[in-house]
Amino acid sequence: MQTLDELAEHIRRCTLCPLHNGRTHAVPGEGNPKSELMFIGEGPGKKEDELGRPFVGAAGKFLEQLLAAINLKREDVFITNVVKCRPPENRDPEPQEVETCTTHYLFAQIDAINPRLIITLGRHSMYRFLPDTFKISEVHGKPFRRHGKVYLPLYHPAVALYTGSMRSVLIADMKKIPAILKKIDSLPQAS
Ligand code: URA
Repeated sequence: MQTLDELAEHIRRCTLCPLHNGRTHAVPGEGNPKSELMFIGEGPGKKEDELGRPFVGAAGKFLEQLLAAINLKREDVFITNVVKCRPPENRDPEPQEVETCTTHYLFAQIDAINPRLIITLGRHSMYRFLPDTFKISEVHGKPFRRHGKVYLPLYHPAVALYTGSMRSVLIADMKKIPAILKKIDSLPQAS
């Protein structure tokens, strides 16, 4: 199994999909390699591309507030994205880009960390793991066990920047995490 540091090195040098052409820095992800929580967003934005770090812009500030709501700091958890290089003009990542980046890197990062709960942020991240779910509006804040892992789909923190009323929805979903961790071993296979 590759270590997180080895994976990060591969990601920084990766040329497997067209997104590498436009990047300043690839963004492998960062945080506690032994965390029981792993947060997975969509892809780096402008600021993340500049700094090579995930969630360091406006959405990242809100993610830090969400973590504070359950007494955590960003360095307590592991934070990454489905694609590691910024899509041009922040467009949605193409299915092939998501497929390539996740099969080479994200799944290996999950194996290396072995988190108890994977929190997907936004639709792109959710559909990579829970392709059979319908609308994020119907499933956000509900844990799903799939193939031996447990996933919690949340809205992307950036939505709260556009729609203020979503702040309280995200905070409420985040606050479910401690209780989900407590009962995680008894969650049924298909829910
Ligand atoms: N949005 C994401 O999905 N990921 C980041 O790293 C920053 C913003």
